[in-house]
Amino acid sequence: MTAVAPNPAGLGRMPRREDARLVRGRGRFVDDIVLPGMLHGAVLRSPHAHARIVSVDTSAAESHPKVRAVLTGADLEARGMAWIPTPSHDVAAVLATDKVRYQGQEVAFVVAEDRYAARDALALIEVEYEDLPVVTDARTALDPDTPVIRDEMPGRTDNHVFDWESGDEAATDAVFAAADHVSRCELIYPRVHPAPLETCGVVAHLDPLDGRVTVHCTAQAPHTHRVLYSRITGIAESRIRVIAPDIGGGFGNKVAMYPGYLCALVGSMVTGAPVKWVEDRSENLMATSFARDFHMAGEIASTRDGRIRGVRVTVLADHGAFNATSQPSRFPAGFFGVFTGSYDLEAAHCRVTGVYTNKAPGGVAYACSFRITEASYLVERLVDVLAHDLGLDPAALRMANLLRPDQFPHATPTGWEYDSGDYPATLRLALDMAGYEQLRREQVESRAAYERTGQGTLTGVGISFFTEAVGAGPRRMMDIMGLGMADGADLRVHPSGGAQLAVSCMSQGQGHETTFAQIVAHELGIPYDEIVVVQGDTDRTPFGMGTYGSRSTPVSGAATVMAARKVRDRARLVAAAMLEVAADDLEWVPGRWQVRGVPTSGVSLREIAAAAHSDLDLPDGVEGHLDASCVYNPPNLTYPCGAYVCVVDVDPAIGTVDVRRFVAVDDCGVRINPTIVEGQIHGGLADGIGMALMELVTFDDAGNHLAASFMDYLLPTSMECPSWELGETVTPSPHHPIGAKGVGESATVGSPAAVVNAVLNAIGVRHADMPLTPAQVWCALQGTPLRTDRAIQ
Ligand code: CDP
Repeated sequence: MTAVAPNPAGLGRMPRREDARLVRGRGRFVDDIVLPGMLHGAVLRSPHAHARIVSVDTSAAESHPKVRAVLTGADLEARGMAWIPTPSHDVAAVLATDKVRYQGQEVAFVVAEDRYAARDALALIEVEYEDLPVVTDARTALDPDTPVIRDEMPGRTDNHVFDWESGDEAATDAVFAAADHVSRCELIYPRVHPAPLETCGVVAHLDPLDGRVTVHCTAQAPHTHRVLYSRITGIAESRIRVIAPDIGGGFGNKVAMYPGYLCALVGSMVTGAPVKWVEDRSENLMATSFARDFHMAGEIASTRDGRIRGVRVTVLADHGAFNATSQPSRFPAGFFGVFTGSYDLEAAHCRVTGVYTNKAPGGVAYACSFRITEASYLVERLVDVLAHDLGLDPAALRMANLLRPDQFPHATPTGWEYDSGDYPATLRLALDMAGYEQLRREQVESRAAYERTGQGTLTGVGISFFTEAVGAGPRRMMDIMGLGMADGADLRVHPSGGAQLAVSCMSQGQGHETTFAQIVAHELGIPYDEIVVVQGDTDRTPFGMGTYGSRSTPVSGAATVMAARKVRDRARLVAAAMLEVAADDLEWVPGRWQVRGVPTSGVSLREIAAAAHSDLDLPDGVEGHLDASCVYNPPNLTYPCGAYVCVVDVDPAIGTVDVRRFVAVDDCGVRINPTIVEGQIHGGLADGIGMALMELVTFDDAGNHLAASFMDYLLPTSMECPSWELGETVTPSPHHPIGAKGVGESATVGSPAAVVNAVLNAIGVRHADMPLTPAQVWCALQGTPLRTDRAIQ
């Protein structure tokens, strides 16, 4: 696939139209919604990580003057709503019935006249618990004497969730047996949290007059939420309307259906009034979808001179108490199968074992990525370990092993078909932008100066090259809840020539109102300002799986293009009738159909739209307007890639890390709006710095959550981020109608390895686990790095 010039005509930089309201504080988020007679909910959560519920006494809370209802697990069980089915063919408790399985688990729900009364009444509920032994270490979860967390499941005698493998084990073993060299490394990708600015919330209302349910909620995937509400409550989908208003960040955190959403709906059923529930920060950090928690033992085989031949890995995945979030069911370990990265390998194999522990459930969300983040980190760390062991330059080692452009489409040893890319050009550009050779000289000088004086900082240079797999997904590969993975776009063209596009994806800050209008403008020549984008309302948008895993552009974006092209085809028939020529004699020039070779004889789309609604004698196939719909079922995922170079200065005396420079060259195919793409990359790079250097969720041995506020769960700020240096290469996706690939989570996937590689390169340590806090850097320098899946406070 040859590279093309960036930003083809019609697409390009535009300010985000949604910012006009968002930066002025005029966004309308769930907590801004106030309905007449609205009540407020609050959740009682378990203080224990594992305990049997002996009794729940709600009588005192019920007699609180402002309390209108109290729900327990028993109440929900009586309604058949105590459990939420999960896409992973597991269930998650709505309100605990038999026992609690992690600290922060939902036990009861109070509905009161105001938020304060609801919170106050929680203290009046008396729950008697009987403590059970707690499992917080995934490595002991399968030991025979370990307590069984999910003992409510018939026949269950252990904490095993699933085994999943990918690749040819025998072929991989043969490659390893014949290899000159094998490097090994054990890595932890610790538990982290998406931590969106806005927490999760809902306003649910079952209107007693017409029996219709309206749910305003923080949903990245409104249509799948509606399906779940319907399946759990038994209310027909047609009687349920899910509306996602403005959303203040999701990053995967708002894919799942949380117990509070359902409790608010049941609260409304019981009281007849709308019920609002908005969680606080600690609830969000403790009980909503976490990410990662992967323990990986990786091996990389090569020739003596560094020709990489194979990778194999065994993984222990800590899923918490329920295997609950959106895991494509045919890929129980998510997309970890792309752990072969961007390299030309002979063979690869992985085996993943999932276990239950007494921690909050989740496991894939956070710039969703379905485990690609872990896969990318694994292979990029292994390549650096190999370079370390063989004494090779990590940039040269990567350059020698990257897939070449003539190898695309490329079938990986684990069954993925990468669509396009020019990996060497992407890495070359990143190295050139960084001034790689000069940086290496500076590094030698900084180390020499440090060794001479015993003072100053050590410079480190870290590289990562990633391949993402986004645009979930082709039906043959996966389905979620048995629903397939297609998305829809409905395009209406007004008689005056403007348009309204309705899509099934849902922006949480990614700027879809801007970019999707740009796609329509690009395809039809309709002025951008005359195109309105509707999203986030199941009554007004076509069915689709929503926004996660950077799938909006690859799937809904493609649906939008195809709908616009159907409009164009219809317009051609009308234009032919208007011009009294054969449709075949017409050619499309942006915004109009004209007689081939006769620019003076043509009609604009605006004129055609007016004619289509007039008394013109319309041709066959045109019913009276130009509107069109498309349901897009992608033939493959799209595979964006990128090369990142991170430069750090580490103070070995106190272990602090300063990220001095960060060069990021991304290839997401054709960019619809480069400004928005760059914003997505900026956010993801900051994410990467956070995960590499500070973000961490750990638990003590009693299962106490040790990161339940932003005092403990540290996020990067602008102070920790350098001025990003961005570059791009463009290899269009051959199967996306405008060649675009997703980009939303690319930088989150690619950047942690670059930062970690840089820090370890600076201090000359082969491996230490994230987050590389000052304590961890210092311990690594002493030769005793910490285990970051355990409490280290
Ligand atoms: O699904 P999500 O919106 O999170 O991710 P995405 O599809 O990668 O899109 C993120 C934002 O970047 C959207 O506004 C896209 O339209 C925009 N984008 C773009 O302008 N060009 C691309 N090639 C990819 C995304």
